[in-house]
Amino acid sequence: MTVKEIDALVQPILSKKKYLHSLRMAECAQKLAKIHGASQKKAIKAALLHDVGYFVGRSKKDRDLSHAGISARYAKRIGIKNRSLLEAIEWHTVGKPGLDTLGKIIFLADGIESGRQFPLIDVIRQMATKDLDGAILMFIQVTRTYLHQQGKRMSTHTIQMRDEIVKQRKLQGLR
Ligand SMILES: [Fe+2]
Ligand SMILES: [Fe+2]
Repeated sequence: MTVKEIDALVQPILSKKKYLHSLRMAECAQKLAKIHGASQKKAIKAALLHDVGYFVGRSKKDRDLSHAGISARYAKRIGIKNRSLLEAIEWHTVGKPGLDTLGKIIFLADGIESGRQFPLIDVIRQMATKDLDGAILMFIQVTRTYLHQQGKRMSTHTIQMRDEIVKQRKLQGLR
């Protein structure tokens, strides 16, 4: 399926608000894909599809809990077979260790697209254009602080992803 076809398919499914969020995310993800050598088309497709699970899930509880998994299943149903693209959609909310560049971009772009606003976001956006993993570490740190203030815990998947990146950077001699 082409980007155009996916766009035409998801627009009537998504709420106006989510559609606009997905478009802004697609723009951000495409930019990051270009910089970091991932497929720009896949980045746009993943962004357009990432939140459809909120609207095609069976029950509201289902949708709120696992919209990412539902979105990935939906993408499969419409004929998307690329594993990297499906994984990027499935793990966009919490991330996980072993995500490839596309998956990391989708995880980050969801949080820093131009409509988002939170402390240090401009620093993270700037860093994302040079050091994707560094930006992810900073994004996770800020998110963790925010969740902590709300009495919530971060997903173990996210923590494992962070730990993996930290370990890899130590091996590479980066901070
Ligand atoms: Fe989402
Ligand atoms: Fe989203």
